[in-house]
Amino acid sequence: MRFSAACERNQQPILELLRAWLPASARVLEVGSGSGQHAVHMARHLAGLHWQPSDLPPLNDLEERLRLEGSSALAAGTVIAEPLELDVTRPEQWPAGPFDALFTANTCHIMPASAVPQLLAGAARVLAPGALLLLYGPFRDGEAHTAPSNAAFDAHLRAIDPAMGVRDARDLIGQAAALGLELRADAPMPANNRMLVFRRQSRGDAPPR
Ligand SMILES: C[S@@+](CC[C@H](N)C(=O)[O-])C[C@H]1O[C@@H](n2cnc3c(N)ncnc32)[C@H](O)[C@@H]1O
Repeated sequence: MRFSAACERNQQPILELLRAWLPASARVLEVGSGSGQHAVHMARHLAGLHWQPSDLPPLNDLEERLRLEGSSALAAGTVIAEPLELDVTRPEQWPAGPFDALFTANTCHIMPASAVPQLLAGAARVLAPGALLLLYGPFRDGEAHTAPSNAAFDAHLRAIDPAMGVRDARDLIGQAAALGLELRADAPMPANNRMLVFRRQSRGDAPPR
């Protein structure tokens, strides 16, 4: 079964951030669930969640983890739904929502640069007014990396595939704002990662500039 050591290291700080930001009984869409470790960890510690995992096919490993771990020892009232096949570049694969949050970890630098705006646009479609978009991963600020390790990781990714790479947080924040997703926090996370927290504007809020 697929296993991520990084997930083991970052799941507790991510949990604490989600605990602080998610509303009660949150409906959460996770994009790029990978091994499913985040889904299981959050569902074991946050009560009343409806967690919808998803990823590119094949989903075998994700399904296997959820079969083994996805229904036992969960927090009160929490369920993990059957994982969905979701490629963010395919609008017909997006669930209708509405969701109270979209969480995605370490996906923006893996999916092609051209897919990232589609992730943001999809989030804007499926999030309820006032709901959260939570992007976890390494991000740079313009050309400036936040750590030498992130610069090296970026070069490594681009050498494998020029479409991959550590994304510019400023670009993301600007694109998100144009879709009505306003940055509310830029939280430092382990290993020079960050959590960018956006809130979908409510009806009646000022239109995005
Ligand atoms: C480095 S893994 C991260 C997995 C997991 N979220 C974690 O933190 O360990 C990147 C994930 O992004 C997913 N991904 C890549 N392109 C995608 C796309 N176009 N739509 C949805 N997910 C995508 C991959 O399938 C993979 O699960």
